[in-house]
Amino acid sequence: PPSTVHPPSTVHPASTLITGIGELTTNDPGLGILRDAAVVLEADRIAWVGESAVAPAADAAVDVGGRAVLPGWVDSHTHLVFVGDRTAEFEARMAGEPYQAGGIATTVARTRAASDADLEANLTAHLDEAVRQGTTCLETKTGYGLTVEDETRSARLAARHADEVTYLGAHLVPPGADAESYVDLVCGDMLDAVAPYAAWVDVFCEAGAFDEAQSERIVAAAATRGLGVRVHGNQLGNGPGVRLAVRHDAASVDHCTHLTDEDVDALASSSTVATLLPACDLSTRQPLAPARRLWDAGAAVALASNANPGSSYTTSMAFCVATAVLQMGLTVREAVWAATAGGARALRRDTGDGAVGTVRAGARADLHVLDAPSATHLAYRPGVPLTWAVWRCGHRAA
Ligand code: NIG
Repeated sequence: PPSTVHPPSTVHPASTLITGIGELTTNDPGLGILRDAAVVLEADRIAWVGESAVAPAADAAVDVGGRAVLPGWVDSHTHLVFVGDRTAEFEARMAGEPYQAGGIATTVARTRAASDADLEANLTAHLDEAVRQGTTCLETKTGYGLTVEDETRSARLAARHADEVTYLGAHLVPPGADAESYVDLVCGDMLDAVAPYAAWVDVFCEAGAFDEAQSERIVAAAATRGLGVRVHGNQLGNGPGVRLAVRHDAASVDHCTHLTDEDVDALASSSTVATLLPACDLSTRQPLAPARRLWDAGAAVALASNANPGSSYTTSMAFCVATAVLQMGLTVREAVWAATAGGARALRRDTGDGAVGTVRAGARADLHVLDAPSATHLAYRPGVPLTWAVWRCGHRAA
């Protein structure tokens, strides 16, 4: 599907040579991890990558003093078009209440009542917060509107700021609505109104939200409109989400907290990425998703924040990476790949001109400089803010 958003601005600085890179993670099989490296940015693209000693000249130079450089984080799953927090719900959960999808309705009521300006300001505040921590490509979803008008407004605002926009009218059957009539709306007038702003459709295929048959109708209808498919699946228990995603060649099935062996095998032999959301698993007191099992089976794994006010109120990809290493059995290299190249694959932005999640000539000029000599420090020094500089689409963003 086409990208829905444009870089933050079309005015770009002259070429910049970034030199003195102690460790450069490229995610490019031909380049690997480089030492004493340099990168040249030109407009919104990476123009050159290699050893410092043979770097070409550029209009400006920045010496990063031996620090580690990675591709910017690719956060492929967020829900940032909302207002209001749910602190009381979180406190109740930490006191033993289970997470219930019904909490979404609280945010729906607040979001519907908000002005465009307040909704947009909250979205950009969270997006800025993410960028300051090294996120350079971000997907966000509708799903707190659940009327034609409110879903369209959410998608329109998201398309102004996010790199990728996903239509999640199928987040919850609105309180008081008839489920089948609501699915008709999601597949009909709502889809017609939102499709111009979105590249993707998503459905929360879970007990208490949408069942397999309803989810099937929704993704099939959206696919005929050219939207790529993503699925929320297997979050709160075993269920049909992974099956549905693989059957529809979804780019990603997200959560994957509760998986059967059949689910793991199906993912391993598909092109659907398993996107894991460790901050959500922790915040909802679910087990952590089986990252090691998926990786060893050969499935493509992504890590994302799932930033939203209910189940995962964080924009920190570094927290997700540290958790994946310390608690989920991934190595640092695997976790960093999953939070960069894995996210890019989950958005089908990992190849071609302007690819994200990689540092190579022709990729988008998205870099994350750590105040550390190696990426290992992301897990070795958990909780320490390590972002030293960020370039997003060639602009110095932090
Ligand atoms: O991905 N699972 C459904 N949607 C979100 C939760 C949204 C909310 O609780 O507000 C999620 O976890």
